[in-house]
Amino acid sequence: MEKTLSIIKPDAVKKGVIGKIIDRFESNGLRIAALKKVWLSRQNAEAFYAIHKSRPFFKDLVEFMTSAPIVAIVLEGENAVAKNRELMGATNPKEAKSGTIRADFADSIDANAVHGSDSVENARIEIAQLFGSFEIL
Ligand code: CMP
Repeated sequence: MEKTLSIIKPDAVKKGVIGKIIDRFESNGLRIAALKKVWLSRQNAEAFYAIHKSRPFFKDLVEFMTSAPIVAIVLEGENAVAKNRELMGATNPKEAKSGTIRADFADSIDANAVHGSDSVENARIEIAQLFGSFEIL
């Protein structure tokens, strides 16, 4: 069984759609293996998005991800990485297919409701950044 990391971002948490987003996962065969609501520090967010450090949107991204609490989730299932990305839709909600999480709940490319790991290897790294092994059940 594959694991992936999902983050429900500050915009979606503030909108009160945590439950609706989790339902998309569970209704589509992804099991919740771990879940917690946390408020990332600047240091946490910079480390999590270190791969984007040189991108022009990095500062705004860190600012946004530390602006309010997030919900971090470990999803488990067959092809969990790809399935989660399919459920999320394109990074830019204007390009996201209808019926996807971003098409339904995101406002902009910055406030895009959810993050999902883009590979099995990155999922392993991202999960280890936010969860201890004893929290994944
Ligand atoms: P996420 O999947 O969390 O990964 C990095 C985030 O940076 C991305 O979602 C977007 O919310 C944000 N971002 C802002 N501008 C861009 C861009 N031009 N390309 C990719 N991601 C961007």
